Amino acid sequence: MSVLIRPERSVDEPDTFEVNRLAFPTPFEAELVNRLRTAVTAERGPWISLVAEDAQAIVGHILFTEVILSRDGEDVGRAWGLAPMAVRPEGQRRGVGSALVRAGLERCRDSDLGAVFVLGHPEYYPRFGFQPTEAFGIRWEQNVPPEVFMGVELVEGTLAAWRGAEVRYRPEITDAD
Ligand SMILES: CC(C)(COP(=O)(O)OP(=O)(O)OC[C@H]1O[C@@H](n2cnc3c(N)ncnc32)[C@H](O)[C@@H]1OP(=O)(O)O)[C@@H](O)C(=O)NCCC(=O)NCCS
Repeated sequence: MSVLIRPERSVDEPDTFEVNRLAFPTPFEAELVNRLRTAVTAERGPWISLVAEDAQAIVGHILFTEVILSRDGEDVGRAWGLAPMAVRPEGQRRGVGSALVRAGLERCRDSDLGAVFVLGHPEYYPRFGFQPTEAFGIRWEQNVPPEVFMGVELVEGTLAAWRGAEVRYRPEITDAD
């Protein structure tokens, strides 16, 4: 696999849209990426958007934005939320998604946020170190089967310190329907 993983540039935005549009059943995620980009740029908030480039074509994309942890109505921490990620259908199952997750986690490690959360396939993300947050008494703000909400520490002890907390994604992710 000779795929290059690199930060998304403005010129890539239409290709990023297309990758997400093709990978998901509806354009929701493709449009979500644009909504998030606009909102986070305006706030100058944390943003990690990487693309996978194969022979000058964008074949995959992964996005990390900030999530807030709160306990008893009080914010107790900030972390990364991985959402969404996508690989063009014809390019799937060749390791592109894995390369995006690994490179993304490396970038997250360079930040001052102590963990990454993801809502996703329970068979996929544990291979990168994610584990269900139920073990740490951390839950997503919405009710989902416990195995689909996972986290990985970037700084040892972070998840344990957030026991009992609830994770809140950006409103563009959770308020949209
Ligand atoms: C999930 C996705 C990004 C993975 O990208 P990828 O390049 O195919 O991933 P890799 O090649 O690194 O890994 C392939 C592995 O992913 C897992 N996988 C892929 N899609 C999966 C799915 N829908 N459910 C569970 N596991 C899945 C499989 O275990 C597969 O391993 P296998 O080939 O041994 O069966 C890609 O399949 C995709 O774009 N899917 C549609 C969009 C999506 O569901 N995004 C994730 C939202 S959380």
